[in-house]
Amino acid sequence: MADSKKSTESQKKSTTDATKKASTDSQKKSTTDASLLPENLPEPLQNIFQLIDINKDRYISALREAVGIRSISAWPEARAEVVRMVTWAGTKLRELGFEVELRKIGDQTFEDGTVLALPPVIFASLGFDNRKKTLLIYGHLDVQPARKEDGWDSDPFLLSECHGQLFGRGATDDKGPVLGWLHAIECYQAMKLDLPVNIKFVLEAMEESGSEGLDDLLKAQKDKFLKNVDLVCISDNYWLGKNKPCLTYGLRGLCYFFLEVEGGIKDLHSGVFGGAVHEPMADLIWLLDQLTDQDGNILVPGIMDDVPEETSDEQELYDAIEFSLDDFRREIGVCQLRFPQSKAKTLMHRWRYPALSIHGIQGCFSDPGAKTVIPRKVIGKFSIRLVPNQTPDQVEKVVMAYIKEKWETRKSPNSMKIYLADDGVPAWTTNPFHPSYKAARTAVGYVFHTFPDMIREGGYMNQVLLLQETTKKNVLLLPMGASDDGAHSQNEKIDIRNYIEGTKVMAAYLYEVGQITEPLEEAKEEVRCS
Ligand code: BES
Ligand code: MN
Ligand code: MN
Repeated sequence: MADSKKSTESQKKSTTDATKKASTDSQKKSTTDASLLPENLPEPLQNIFQLIDINKDRYISALREAVGIRSISAWPEARAEVVRMVTWAGTKLRELGFEVELRKIGDQTFEDGTVLALPPVIFASLGFDNRKKTLLIYGHLDVQPARKEDGWDSDPFLLSECHGQLFGRGATDDKGPVLGWLHAIECYQAMKLDLPVNIKFVLEAMEESGSEGLDDLLKAQKDKFLKNVDLVCISDNYWLGKNKPCLTYGLRGLCYFFLEVEGGIKDLHSGVFGGAVHEPMADLIWLLDQLTDQDGNILVPGIMDDVPEETSDEQELYDAIEFSLDDFRREIGVCQLRFPQSKAKTLMHRWRYPALSIHGIQGCFSDPGAKTVIPRKVIGKFSIRLVPNQTPDQVEKVVMAYIKEKWETRKSPNSMKIYLADDGVPAWTTNPFHPSYKAARTAVGYVFHTFPDMIREGGYMNQVLLLQETTKKNVLLLPMGASDDGAHSQNEKIDIRNYIEGTKVMAAYLYEVGQITEPLEEAKEEVRCS
């Protein structure tokens, strides 16, 4: 989280206008744009798309091999497998003619004192033609833990195919997308076509464990490996739904708070002492309850000060996006959404409004059974998802002030402390009209015969701000998988359609980037858009 704070120095304009234009444009063009017509597919892409279809089984086999490597970054005992995965990918890249470097990034110390070498980060380059743009692709080779006993229907590390879906840990997060890029590049070579861009890869294998070591490595490479990069693309997120492709141009940020209330020097028996003391837990729950009202509105004064007002026609933007409230509700398994009738409000509150969540209480009794204890000290954990144009500093300030003010009125003799768990991260949005986004939009159009929805994500991905900051170039988020892929969950999968058509999109995107004629200078709005 730490590094993103600097990127808050920002221009102040809201992306609302940009979003609006993106959406109406795509509505307008979706019926008229000739690039959606199959007969207008550029010839090289016709051949490449055919080849991708022919190679389908080979691509599935490659994914089977990759999924078979248990590259779980969180498990010390799996570290050799993580390294094997890095080596495997390095070999694939070398076979494609890449110059490959495996960069060592030091050691990791676990809580029990175990020290292990961090898996190396792959830096790979292909093509150094200064008449071409240089595209930097980021991906990760590690996966979340998985065991059959967690409730998988099949072995998580044995790719299994069922009804057009490929099940296996890492299938969608992020081995499938990484392989998509390699296969797209391989196709150009197989067809003896000149690659339209110079390509660089940064592939890490600690992403699922906080990307330890990546910040320092990339910051030190600003003027070296990252120097001539013109644009950045990351395929590590998902479509909004199951059917329609999208491009992602925004993420929310995060401020995570710890709220401590401390009473005496030890836990107490509630039978003996209950009634005679001020209980820290009661104070904490009361404080936490001051944060939101029963409708979910955040009660912290000033929290909305920097959030742009909703414009009268903004709702239409969100209405134009393909998204089913019913499917969404069913997928998350709740009986009622906060805005049961409004798709627009639901999306806005996932992307363009802040959200406050209470996560847990440390130090309280939470085991089964009925322990009659009065905990002496409890720590409440809550976080706020930040949106443009909020800054972590401002959010920290208003939350601290509010909690302190409330605490005064509580008149409790216990002591209270509130602090940020880590530096906050600001939200990120970028220019959805950047040539890179236009190239991706056209590429999606070629493959799916419809233009992608322009969406944001509610969560954050540390790499986005990091790569934007270190390259000062536009970052495109180009998802391959669908919303129901179940990354991190049991039965993670990728649909064969997403895997294969997604590979075509990648190939077409490379082609379209090659068509960009204007220089991609350091665009102001890309340093940090709001
Ligand atoms: N691919 C995800 C990020 C993601 C998740 C993007 C959901 C879009 C929607 C990435 O691999 C991931 O899981 N990141 C972790 C980071 C953490 C483990 C440090 C996350 O988001 O929790
Ligand atoms: Mn991922
Ligand atoms: Mn993940």
